Amino acid sequence: MHRCILRGLRFEDSVVLSSCIRQQRIADKKWTVSLRSRPCHSIHSWISPSTTVRWQPLTHFVSARAHHLTQSKCMSAARRKRLPSAFPVIDGGLNPIVNHVFELNLRNSLVCQDRYLKYKAQVQKGGGDNATLRHTQRNKKLLVRERLRRLLDDEDYLELAPFAGLGLPYGDIPSAGCLTGIGKINGLWCVFIANDATVKGGTAYPITVKKQLRAQDVAMQNRLPCVYLVDSGGAFLPLQSEIFPDKNQGGRTFYNEAIMSALKIPQVAIVCGSCTAGGAYIPTMAEETVMVHRIGTIFLGGPPLVKAATGEEVSPENLGGATLHAEVSGCVDHFSAVEQDSFESTRNIISTLNFELPEEGEEDGAIEAPLHSADDLMGLAPKTYHHSLDAKLIVSRLTDGSKFQEFKGRYGTTLLTGFAKIEGQLVGIVASNGELTYEASLKGTHFVTLCDQRDVPLVFLQNTAPEPGMTLSTHKAEANTNRLKAQGSMMSAVACASVPKITVVIGGCHGADSYAMCGRAFDPNFLFLWPNARVSLVAPGCSEALVPEEEEAARLDNKLEEESCAFFSSGRLWDDGVILPQDTRKVLSNCLKIIKQQEYQISKERQRTPLLRL
Ligand code: COA
Repeated sequence: MHRCILRGLRFEDSVVLSSCIRQQRIADKKWTVSLRSRPCHSIHSWISPSTTVRWQPLTHFVSARAHHLTQSKCMSAARRKRLPSAFPVIDGGLNPIVNHVFELNLRNSLVCQDRYLKYKAQVQKGGGDNATLRHTQRNKKLLVRERLRRLLDDEDYLELAPFAGLGLPYGDIPSAGCLTGIGKINGLWCVFIANDATVKGGTAYPITVKKQLRAQDVAMQNRLPCVYLVDSGGAFLPLQSEIFPDKNQGGRTFYNEAIMSALKIPQVAIVCGSCTAGGAYIPTMAEETVMVHRIGTIFLGGPPLVKAATGEEVSPENLGGATLHAEVSGCVDHFSAVEQDSFESTRNIISTLNFELPEEGEEDGAIEAPLHSADDLMGLAPKTYHHSLDAKLIVSRLTDGSKFQEFKGRYGTTLLTGFAKIEGQLVGIVASNGELTYEASLKGTHFVTLCDQRDVPLVFLQNTAPEPGMTLSTHKAEANTNRLKAQGSMMSAVACASVPKITVVIGGCHGADSYAMCGRAFDPNFLFLWPNARVSLVAPGCSEALVPEEEEAARLDNKLEEESCAFFSSGRLWDDGVILPQDTRKVLSNCLKIIKQQEYQISKERQRTPLLRL
């Protein structure tokens, strides 16, 4: 066993590789690499030839070896095939004895689904009828969803956090004024960040900034190209103090653009509206920019400011239109006469990115559908924790052929762990099946590290216990301490696992159990909620244990009731969106494909600096 210390990590690398020490074997050679940071999900993405790292004496040999591995991994991807599996089918049949629970859950899920559909219809209207008329008739622009329809290969895209912005203290901001998601352009999954100018001229509220930053985060974490459709009046001025000054506020968008470029994450901007003040930096920092004639403008201060300063009257087009920026300033690289041309131009730019994708269908092979209907998930989505049914019933409706290779089936049974395939893609499933006890946590730790060893992505199905463990006796205190240690281990395993992680909150997301089950703070690649989900430190109805005074406890319960709802959470962007239970398999499958795409990027060894527009 040889040891190398990775040091001299560049700052931009450390954005992706956050702080913790990690040890990993490199393929068949038993090199141990100590790294003061968390690696991306696969070896090649952090010991890739293009990662700027410095090694102690063994440098050349190890990095040459890693280079070779990376190249052969990309080249041979299309020729590889998965090992055959004969996982057992799990019994997903519903015992009639639990029919009444199923019915109760179903009734609750239908109410939640109505709410979901109501919010969906609400956000699809954007800023409302008047703003839509102004946008299409007076400003002669396409609506944001129409733009995406024309840019993307198809409508089968994954929208992220569509309900972000609803129910905020400063009002309802439909889709946070900005649509984000992941869709295919010329066959390549790309993140899109598209302003909706019908929502207050596309200006950025604090939630808009948060949503844009999350989308960039998704692009960085999963190494996805990023396309900005910019149509924004810049900061929403009345809330400037919550947008401008802090680290994770407006300026971070531009900082990220540079870092993403340095990480070889391609970015393209389409200027299809105004880019005023801070917004002007999005296109100028993108690697390539397309601008639409008569519709797009880029300037730091608009015509009213010019008039105030110099008295001169100037049109937006003359001050910062496409002709000026394509011919004089060089701020943009492609001139489009009409919007449609800008989408075609962008699709062509995406074709120049150096990716080699597998042939269509080559990877998936024959896919088996689950043996049970996905609609049953509506009756399995627990109304409350006490209405939870066996997690295997849920797993059997998500996995190929309802097959599941259970791990430690007789130990720590309040956590279900095992391997399965989702649309042909191997995953390790960690599903809550009761309280996260001492044994369950040890089992979780073992399984998570096992998946990490084997580079198998993890799917967490989270439904945590609603109340904190109370200490009512010495015996209980001892049990709690053991549980604390085991949960701490599971949290460490989850935090440091370098494989992709996707979390779906299928019921409760409460307290410390939610951390071990890869909650938002544990940085899963994606986190979704079912509409019945509850997100709060303790669940409503459990505050009596914490607040002895009856009236105060009742008040707290009411507050918890309101604040723990899935839509409250999603409105604040604590997740990547609410999804219907019956769509879960499709969403998981898409996420797995999206994450895998990075393996097909052809990387060349060279110094990583951002692209500079000089
Ligand atoms: N802050 C707060 N509200 C703003 C805003 C800003 N920066 N820019 C626009 N708005 C509001 C307008 O008051 C209007 O609100 P209303 O619907 O309640 O009347 C709404 O957004 C739409 O603006 P409007 O000017 O009517 O629409 P438009 O499509 O003709 O023009 C802009 C949109 C963004 C091009 C134009 O409003 C503009 O240039 N705004 C100023 C941009 C600016 O200077 N930003 C600097 C930020 S640091």
